[in-house]
Amino acid sequence: MSSMAGTLRPLVAGNWKMNGTKSSGAELEAISAGYDDALQGKIDMMVCPPATLVMAFAAMARDAALAVGGQNCHANESGAHTGDISAEMLADAGATAVIAGHSERRADHGETDDQVRAKAEAGWRAGLMAIVCVGETEAERDAGKTLDIVGGQLAGSIPDGATAQNLVVAYEPVWAIGTGRTPTTDDVAEVHGMIRERLTARFGGEGEGMRILYGGSVKPGNAAELMAVDNVNGALVGGASLKADDFLGIAAAYR
Ligand code: PGA
Repeated sequence: MSSMAGTLRPLVAGNWKMNGTKSSGAELEAISAGYDDALQGKIDMMVCPPATLVMAFAAMARDAALAVGGQNCHANESGAHTGDISAEMLADAGATAVIAGHSERRADHGETDDQVRAKAEAGWRAGLMAIVCVGETEAERDAGKTLDIVGGQLAGSIPDGATAQNLVVAYEPVWAIGTGRTPTTDDVAEVHGMIRERLTARFGGEGEGMRILYGGSVKPGNAAELMAVDNVNGALVGGASLKADDFLGIAAAYR
C-alpha cells in the first residue's frame, strides 16, 4: 500500500453506455450544477455519454468543472473504419478522457489487451486521459484466478509511458456490473492493493499517483463503504450515473 494513494484527488466517472438522447441534457445540467455547488473542491467528476452526445454535453459543461469523456475510440487517427470514431474526434468534440477496454467492449467486440493498449495510446496522442478497465468474470473468480487475470490485463492493457495524469485504472469485476452484486470490501482491498503494487513496480512514483477506480453496481447506498477501502480512489458508475440524484449521491461519499 502506498502512503500517497490515500491523498489522491478522487474521480467519480459516469459511464452512460448506450443510453441517452438530447432530452438527457437536463440530467447533465443537474449533475453539473450539483457538482459545482458542493463537490468540485474535493473530487473530479466526469460523464461519459454515448458518442452522439459528447459534443453537446461538452458544450453544456464548458463553463462548469464537470469533465466529459468518450466510452471508446479507434486506435487510428482517421481512415476507412466505418462506424468508428477516433480519439482525435473525441477531443475535437470536447472530451478530455476516453474509457478503454470496458468489459462490454472486450465481450461484445472481442477487444484484446493489445487493442485496449493501442486505444489508450490513441487517447494520449489526442491529449486525452485514458481510463483503462480490467476485471475478472465470475468463473475466473470462482476458480481463484482473479489476481492472475487482473494482473495480466494490467500488464497487457496499459502502455509504457503511463503517468498519474494520463492514466486511470478502473477495476470492474464483470459479475458485479449491472447485477446489484458487489465484492466484499476485503476483496476490493485485495485487488486494488495488487493493482497499486503492480503500478508502482512498473511506473514508480507515477504509479503511486495513479487513481484506481472501483466499478460494478456502485449505488448511493454502498458508495461510502466502497470508497473508504484502501487504494480506492473513486468510482466508475454505470446505471446509477444516469440519474443526477443517484450520481450525486455516490459522489457525496466524499463530502
Ligand atoms: P454498473 O456499471 O454501475 O451499472 O454496474 C458499471 C460499469 O460498467 O462501468
